[in-house]
Amino acid sequence: MEEKIKFLIDKLNNKHSLEQEEYKYLIESRSEEVADMLRTLAVQARKEIYGNSVYIRGLIEFSNICKNDCYYCGIRRGNKTCDRYRLTKEEIIETADEGYNLGFRTFVLQSGEDSYFTDDILVNIISSIKQNHPDCAITLSIGERDKESYKKLFDAGADRFLLRHETADKKHYEKLHPKEMSFEHRVQNLKDLKEIGYQVGCGFMVGSPYQSPETIAKDLKFIEEFSPKMCGIGPFIPHKATPFKNHTSGTAELTCYLLSIIRLIKPNILLPATTALGTIKEGGREQGILSGANVVMPNLSPVAVRKKYDLYDNKICTGEESAQCRSCLDKRIESIGYKIVIDRGDIKEGKF
Ligand code: SAM
Ligand code: FES
Repeated sequence: MEEKIKFLIDKLNNKHSLEQEEYKYLIESRSEEVADMLRTLAVQARKEIYGNSVYIRGLIEFSNICKNDCYYCGIRRGNKTCDRYRLTKEEIIETADEGYNLGFRTFVLQSGEDSYFTDDILVNIISSIKQNHPDCAITLSIGERDKESYKKLFDAGADRFLLRHETADKKHYEKLHPKEMSFEHRVQNLKDLKEIGYQVGCGFMVGSPYQSPETIAKDLKFIEEFSPKMCGIGPFIPHKATPFKNHTSGTAELTCYLLSIIRLIKPNILLPATTALGTIKEGGREQGILSGANVVMPNLSPVAVRKKYDLYDNKICTGEESAQCRSCLDKRIESIGYKIVIDRGDIKEGKF
């Protein structure tokens, strides 16, 4: 292996930081040998902190109605073929109860940007779930809102917030979104969330149209500097009714490579092996765990609506009952020597 690469990997492993140009070099120089080395170090780093525990998050996709029109997303408002739904408060609460009985101690409430869900309605839902299950964490993944709104939801009991930054390159951001959406606004939201006290997650799609080693290097530098508690990355997968329908998918190979790098940037980060990774490759989530991820987010949404939360083509687990998914994942994770634990799965803070 080239000396420069060895030096960069060593620096990343010890200093948890590289220059943007160095990240770019690491991405451009990837080979099986380099990937193996990063993977070995990433797994070692996560094992030191989390042992062989894998945390699960129960994903409740409660509405696919969205006022935004992101070019990559299957539930964008411009997709007139999308069969829209919205769960009632009672359905959301029942779904969380079912999840609790299956061993979930974190619920991720995810939706399109649906203005039906006002602060008052969400406060009511969040506080009811918290009242029923005080030992659980609630993660929100509901997109951009103003700071007061985020604060009200936090005060109602929401603990964490996932808002992928999507790309840390402004020009690239503008190629993925229509002009009413802005990179600055997204980043401001992330800062607001952190200031309020949420455990914040950012992230991006791997292989999104117009992505380059340079934009990925910016993503990695952004992650290093923003220091999120969680980071969601998964391959871009085209959806047949979006403007990006003819673009190629991201790969499991690059996604896993980046999972290893992100683990080394922030050894204690909560890093999911995403459903998109399991969709692009059979066994992709297991490969993600073996590359440094430590979280899986199975779907808890009622089976009747699962197919409708159609972000990209051929999404897996849309026909299975939650209990089936839970036991399927247990087996998958055990088959690679790890174990799903019944735990809120908070980040372990320390000297990292
Ligand atoms: N509306 C919320 C938001 O914007 O944060 C949450 C839902 S949004 C559908 C969740 C994530 O799905 C996005 O941040 C995006 O990265 C991912 N996503 C959307 N379309 C995708 C696609 N075609 N392939 C892979 N991931 C996709
Ligand atoms: Fe859903 Fe395997 S994880 S069926």
